[in-house]
Amino acid sequence: MYPLGTVGSNPTLSAPRFRAWGLRGMSVRQIRREYRAQPTLEGAGVRLSRVFGYHQVPDFDPFLLLDHFGSDNPDDYMAGFPWHPHRGIETVTYMIAGEVEHGDSIGNKGVIRSGDVQWMTAGGGILHQEMPQRYEGTMNGLQLWVNLPASEKMTDPRYRDVLAGQIPALDVADGVRVKVLSGEVDGRSGPVHDLVVSTEYLDVELEPGRTFAHPVAPGWTVFGYVRAGSASMAPSAEQETRARTAALFADGDSVRITAGSQGASFVLVSGTPLGEKVAWGGPIVMNTEKELDLAFRELEQGTFIKHGQRE
Ligand code: CO
Repeated sequence: MYPLGTVGSNPTLSAPRFRAWGLRGMSVRQIRREYRAQPTLEGAGVRLSRVFGYHQVPDFDPFLLLDHFGSDNPDDYMAGFPWHPHRGIETVTYMIAGEVEHGDSIGNKGVIRSGDVQWMTAGGGILHQEMPQRYEGTMNGLQLWVNLPASEKMTDPRYRDVLAGQIPALDVADGVRVKVLSGEVDGRSGPVHDLVVSTEYLDVELEPGRTFAHPVAPGWTVFGYVRAGSASMAPSAEQETRARTAALFADGDSVRITAGSQGASFVLVSGTPLGEKVAWGGPIVMNTEKELDLAFRELEQGTFIKHGQRE
């Protein structure tokens, strides 16, 4: 659940009083570092932008990777991501515009459509495919990988398929619209709860010059990724964060983000750091090299999938 509870024991603490407390007590988060998305070829030949990944561990702990796929040219994405395994992580696919057909070794099959979110816990192992469909206009989506703690890496796989209509879209102020995928804004919770790793995931649209101020839990990892437009991500930011750039925040108990002259679309993501060792091999992320070797041996031997063995 959400961070407000972690800054005071009084659950009725109102937002304005919280802000006053925040001004006295802690601080608005500043930017620690920016990460510009890099063009990458993935899957069977999909052109995408990698915001962070393998080389940034452990900067974003508990988050491992963020990919932004977006193009108006189907040649950039139609090759898709044919059958591949995952173990030890969750993948969160958020389609802003466009469609991805998926199928997996549990027997799930469906289409993630514009505005939908698929929160998949790979746990002990899943095989799946993710195939973007030809789309009129600009296809636009994000995939975030959330690490699982050692104690949950081999948990049973599960899916949360969330339809666009189940995601609260709140006009929290004039020119400030927030979709709550998980976490809480103005007392409204997102549809994805009971996550292994507490995560808040918001999608924010700001009109030019508008500001979004939001409490975040001290000690959590928080980043904002600007999808389009530009924004000043902290009150003392020397320059605006441009589109296709992530700002990783320093510690503090709130963020304060102001859109540039073209407005801004960004996701704001926060989570509890795990502080564990990361052993990462392609689509599999474990704690030790030994666990990684075992996973690849099981893949070769056809014993990778643990689910479906039960009745
Ligand atoms: Co995948």
